[in-house]
Amino acid sequence: LKHVIESQQFNQASLNTIFEVARQMEDVRPGTPESRALDGAVMSTLFYEPSTRTRLSFEAAMARLGGTVLSTESAGEFSSAAKGETLEDTIRTVEGYADCIVLRHFQAGSAKKAASAASVPILNAGDGPGQHPTQALIDVYTIQREIGRLENFTVGLVGDLANGRTVRSLAYVLSMYENVKMYFVAPDVVRMKDDIKEYLTGVGVQWEEVDDLSAVAAEVDVLYQTRIQKERFQDRPDDYELAKGRYIVDAKLMALMKQKSVVMHPLPRVDEISPEVDSDPRAGYFRQAKNGLFAGQGGQGVLIRSGAAPGGDLGASRF
Ligand code: CP
Repeated sequence: LKHVIESQQFNQASLNTIFEVARQMEDVRPGTPESRALDGAVMSTLFYEPSTRTRLSFEAAMARLGGTVLSTESAGEFSSAAKGETLEDTIRTVEGYADCIVLRHFQAGSAKKAASAASVPILNAGDGPGQHPTQALIDVYTIQREIGRLENFTVGLVGDLANGRTVRSLAYVLSMYENVKMYFVAPDVVRMKDDIKEYLTGVGVQWEEVDDLSAVAAEVDVLYQTRIQKERFQDRPDDYELAKGRYIVDAKLMALMKQKSVVMHPLPRVDEISPEVDSDPRAGYFRQAKNGLFAGQGGQGVLIRSGAAPGGDLGASRF
């Protein structure tokens, strides 16, 4: 696995390896030899769409392991993409400066396109409504930490399932585990796309579309809420009006949920989780965001453990 493009690339063995290293990374302290493990390595974060968590957690992971980050404010605006440079030409240039490239782009398929031009690993940090496989790593790591298992549980995926790249990547990864039942709870205009539903059916995953979130709240172990992505509705603002505000997680909904359950959200949120929920111990979304640091370090830790030097691949033998 040289590039990380889509979450179907992972399997349980590769996930276990990453999560084992991620757990170890939680104990890395400044000033220790482990904190210099990526001394001399250079990572570029090339972001054509806004980000807080993904970009900063990757950059923090690199900084905390002694590596260096090359970046530009908003690649679409401040890199030479603004002058018309193609993505491929940018990649061919940046690979001369960095050992790996973390890419966020507004077009589905752009990570694959970048990988086809790259000689260093491309890590897909979100490609439009396509996939967000590194977020899926964080999410599955968080589920394991929060409810103590990755098998035999029920998850409700809620919100903008048509545009949500995190839910697409997460559905693929969760399908690798035994007996994970999925509820899809979405406004009509942003229902889960058929390719995911067909894939899940093909691999024997039980899934169901439901309209009423409160009807399944008592059953789910993981409630995964997402934002209605206004930026994807520029050519159909009426549909955005139909979708927004339809499903809100508030104290009333939390009262229906199991005591041992977790509310997750890839963030950012707008209004789909009320702030009153933040103080509930089951509100796991900021812990989830923090886990991005360890999952990022975990992936980079696999690089170290595999013996791959900076400039090499991301530990192909370990995936
Ligand atoms: N979860 C996530 O992708 O957040 P950012 O857009 O802030 O990176």
